Amino acid sequence: MNNDVMIRFSNLTKKFKDFYAVSNIDLEIRKGEIVGFLGPNGAGKSTTMKMLAYLLKPSEGEIWIRSNGELKKLSSHNKDYLLDNIGFLIENPTFYGNVTPRLVLKYFAKLKGYPRKQVNKRVEEVIAIFGMSDWIDKKIKTFSKGMRQKIGVASAIMHDPDIVVLDEPSTGLDPQARREVRDLILKLKKIGKTIFLSSHLLYEVSEVADRVAIINNGKLIAFDTLDNLEAKAKKSIIHFELIRQPEENIENMLKNIEEIVTPLTGISTELNWVDYNEDSKVFQIFFNGHPENQLNILETLLKNRYKIIEFSVPKAGLLENLFLEMVNPEGNHDFNNNSQNNLNNLEKELIMEVQ
Ligand SMILES: Nc1ncnc2c1ncn2[C@@H]1O[C@H](COP(=O)(O)OP(=O)(O)O)[C@@H](O)[C@H]1O
Ligand SMILES: [Mg+2]
Repeated sequence: MNNDVMIRFSNLTKKFKDFYAVSNIDLEIRKGEIVGFLGPNGAGKSTTMKMLAYLLKPSEGEIWIRSNGELKKLSSHNKDYLLDNIGFLIENPTFYGNVTPRLVLKYFAKLKGYPRKQVNKRVEEVIAIFGMSDWIDKKIKTFSKGMRQKIGVASAIMHDPDIVVLDEPSTGLDPQARREVRDLILKLKKIGKTIFLSSHLLYEVSEVADRVAIINNGKLIAFDTLDNLEAKAKKSIIHFELIRQPEENIENMLKNIEEIVTPLTGISTELNWVDYNEDSKVFQIFFNGHPENQLNILETLLKNRYKIIEFSVPKAGLLENLFLEMVNPEGNHDFNNNSQNNLNNLEKELIMEVQ
């Protein structure tokens, strides 16, 4: 098992004066997996990644990195050697618009000491992996945000490291660009890279990560596979849409739905939660996550002549709840109000972040 570990944080801690930005983090990232590092703004994600990149010195604890088959403790003596096996994208990269990807990538390959004679070939190879061969000699100022971000990731992996560390690679990107970055991350995994990826967006992490580490106030509060986290969360959300927007009073409709599905959700009545999102036109029903309950709910809704055209149990929805519960453990778990408010606040926060 030890042979699998690519990065190990052991009791990793960073204090800024009296403030603990990162507290006693223990985390192991294994070969070939994507670990999502998930937490709200200010949780300590970037601080952790900066310590990994030796841009910040830990106040306590250790970082171990595998390079050339050996797991070694990061120190001032071996940092260049160990960090050679990692490609970092720590902040949104900015490039001069007048240069081309070929120039930028050549520069990074040379900077990282990639064998000179092979640099040209390597540049074309990486650009091809990212599906940007047609753009290799175009000026970056003509590129979309997503394409620029891809060039940022490309420059991070020019020297062909085994490990790729991406700090919020999708923040500030539009949905299309996000999709591109997501596909790129999956591609990197496919070619054998180990990936440590941070985000404050739950669904982004849940789409790609094999395991998710949740950090809040500098502390690791969960580290597991999505499936296990979901099992722990024990609750799920059904999303459904009707063929037409409801005409009758939506409150009455929600009451009616609540009445007919409450016996089927498998969760205690005080946790019952049926909701409708005006913007997305999506109904939500909280339930225990069991497929039989899901089927019963669907059948009952159809029997009651709700003309459902979309019905799903999105993964991110589950994690979202788990995340909110964990980030707010003392919080009132009455999901009729609180969770929805939290959710709305979180969404607002995220939207502001993106703008
Ligand atoms: N150089 C610094 N000096 C003092 N506080 C810092 C410094 N860098 C980060 N912090 C604080 O540490 C906390 C974690 O920050 P950060 O790691 O950037 O969070 P995240 O990346 O999860 O949004 C925040 O409260 C932030 O204000
Ligand atoms: Mg950050």
